[in-house]
Amino acid sequence: MTTLSQSADVNIKNLYSDYCANMETYIMFRIAARVVELTPELEKKGRPPIKMSIGAPTVEPPKALLDYFIKTLSEPGIHTYSVPKGEKFFLDAVAQRMKSRFGVDVNPATEITSLLGSKEGLANMFRAIITPRMDHKERDIILTPDPGYASYVDAIEVAGGLSYPTPLTLENSYLPDMDDAVESLKRDGYDPTRIKAVIINYPSNPIGAAAPFEYYEKVVDFARRHKILLISDIAYSEMYFDGQEAPHSILEVPGAKDLAVEFHSLSKPYAMTGWRIGFAVGNADAVGILAKIKGTMDSGIFRAVQKAAAFALTSPECDAYIRENNKMYAENQKVMLAGFKRLGWPIEQLNPPKATFYLWLPIPRNYTSCEKFAADVLEKSGVVLVPGTAFGKTGEGFVRLSLVNPKHELEAVIDRMEQDGFVY
Ligand SMILES: Cc1ncc(COP(=O)(O)O)c(C=O)c1O
Repeated sequence: MTTLSQSADVNIKNLYSDYCANMETYIMFRIAARVVELTPELEKKGRPPIKMSIGAPTVEPPKALLDYFIKTLSEPGIHTYSVPKGEKFFLDAVAQRMKSRFGVDVNPATEITSLLGSKEGLANMFRAIITPRMDHKERDIILTPDPGYASYVDAIEVAGGLSYPTPLTLENSYLPDMDDAVESLKRDGYDPTRIKAVIINYPSNPIGAAAPFEYYEKVVDFARRHKILLISDIAYSEMYFDGQEAPHSILEVPGAKDLAVEFHSLSKPYAMTGWRIGFAVGNADAVGILAKIKGTMDSGIFRAVQKAAAFALTSPECDAYIRENNKMYAENQKVMLAGFKRLGWPIEQLNPPKATFYLWLPIPRNYTSCEKFAADVLEKSGVVLVPGTAFGKTGEGFVRLSLVNPKHELEAVIDRMEQDGFVY
């Protein structure tokens, strides 16, 4: 007779990869879990959570888009597998958009792939260029904006690479000098020949900063000199306030296609964050290897979602929808700036950027840690802020707020903070 082995003999944790063994849960999910934990207590004291941490529009997607999507559901063949690279009708719509919005010609057959959201695409792009290594000094390096979208650092780490920060500060107008970053990397004992790519993200999360075209030209030149891939993340390319210059595509820089790949997202402009659709466009080899690696992991996006996305990218109604929402974000920024001014923040000196739906604010003078400030505001006032360090070391001293909440919530944030003694 066989004896049953004790399940305690097996410790699955011992089987985790070296990269995952010490991995923390993604910061935004950690914040969400903490909010859930505190909610009963906050509700009891009349401070139900107001989530100023949301990185997604709270409005409905465009009505025309929803109507179109519903119609596609009964089309023949719509419910079967797609392909990771995307359907021809979607790729053609992307090419049309790149031409009409940025004046850029791209070949839908070789220079575009669909993505299950740009987060997925970026993570797989990193996998495609990083050879995983344990020793930090031996790792392939990707230069990463700091503060920047938290997923870059995590995904590079899981791929077995090293992210090296390029600091975005008020002093450098949020446009880091990449040559300085290489010098600093050398001083830290890393080998610059291990740099495989540089990431830029304008308009930026979390700061909202935009980049002038000349900066794009500089970064293309930098990537060419170092023979590396330039990854431009323009998830917020459509989110800019009235009167601002429309953000550029890196592919507008002559010759950029030799070395650049750009990540676009339909999530933010069309309030489609849950639909999971974006695209990468640019250098054919970069796009090709990305599509190839995706082929081992996903089987493409629901065709009806691709149909709706193609509609969104080419529809004047959807463009008008984006402009309307941007007006609302600009209005919300005004409300919050006036509110924080009332609480003593030196708003005039901050010169807040006029893009995205984020507000990047310094913490009060009596605080030295943004995490402590965010924790206090959450526990006392029930207001959920994202500490700047969630986006990198350079984010210390700042918090990020979103401008997607309804006006009464924005006003309640200021009122609660005032009542609870949170002043600058
Ligand atoms: C800068 C940036 N890039 C990419 C993404 C990912 O967006 P998605 O995967 O929804 O396309 C986000 C989401 O917050 C972001 O802020």
